[in-house]
Amino acid sequence: MMKERILQIGKTGEESLPAITTMAGLQAWEVEYLGRKSELNTLLKSLRDLSPEEKKIVGPLGNSTKQKLIALFDTKKKKLLENSIDWQAEGVDITAPGAKVAIGHLNPLTQIEHEIQDIFTSMGFVVADGPEVETEHYNFDALNFPKDHPSRDMQDTFWIKPDKKAKERYLPRTHTSGVQVRYMEAHKPPLRIIVPGKVFRNEATDASHEHTFHQFECLMVDVEGQVTVATFKYVAETFFSAFFGEKVTVRLRPSFFPFTEPSFEFDISCIICGAHGCATCKHSGWLEIGGAGMVNQRVFEAAGYKRGQYQGFAWGFGMARLAMMKYKIADIRLLMSGDLRFIRQF
Ligand code: DAH
Repeated sequence: MMKERILQIGKTGEESLPAITTMAGLQAWEVEYLGRKSELNTLLKSLRDLSPEEKKIVGPLGNSTKQKLIALFDTKKKKLLENSIDWQAEGVDITAPGAKVAIGHLNPLTQIEHEIQDIFTSMGFVVADGPEVETEHYNFDALNFPKDHPSRDMQDTFWIKPDKKAKERYLPRTHTSGVQVRYMEAHKPPLRIIVPGKVFRNEATDASHEHTFHQFECLMVDVEGQVTVATFKYVAETFFSAFFGEKVTVRLRPSFFPFTEPSFEFDISCIICGAHGCATCKHSGWLEIGGAGMVNQRVFEAAGYKRGQYQGFAWGFGMARLAMMKYKIADIRLLMSGDLRFIRQF
């Protein structure tokens, strides 16, 4: 009878296991009891020839026997593996705690960028971006730079070798401000964006200057009267207080940029000394942060808006400076150096 034969196979299989002491022995056992050509497998395959009544009894028995043998095999295999290495003789202390695996992490600049994005998105701003290789139109013309403005000079800008067929000149963008125009061309106010990104300048490097650095632009526009200098000051103070985790005040000084009118340089109260005066703020209590202003109506016009319809503020400044202030980093060049001794500190 098939039923008895299956029970018998299960029994001899189980009983023959304890005598096995080697992996090779266990493999032979596996072939004999669980292999494709094993008796059990052949029996299971012939089940289909049985009557339905017989199938009901023999089928489940065959399967449970197979499962039992598989479980026995797994346990035995584990035991053999454990015993096959004499840990003590190998000098391995298997109770010792594991070695910590070193994993990579983000550059402090990227961490700062993420923090900035978090704060601004919580204030309803959208993160926008634009191409790193920009046209002269978006980088300069649309931002109201005069044709003979000195920053278009070779000394400040890396121009891309002109293609004879190209209608425009291209350059690695010198600031993120061009994205203001690109974004406004595609969206109508009210709008609030920040634009974090890489910019490039033909400059000699020193402890506070890099030829490639990260800026972040901010732009908020609404109908006339909705976004004023007071709005700008409020947004700036809210952002910097959240970023540095303490109350920060903003001070504006008159300045000039072609794309803003009026324009400001803006400073924040020194977060190193709490505005009492220290070496970092040159005993003034203020730290210079960057440029800002109310968007020049000519920029709105370049983006296709009607003059006098909208009002907004914009600012742009270096992200590295913020990272340097927050983490007290003395030399900007460390940030992009790829020096692991530096990176691993963050
Ligand atoms: N684009 C300027 C720069 O690269 C910074 C700047 C100044 C951006 C004033 C602005 C602004 O949006 O309003 O130095």
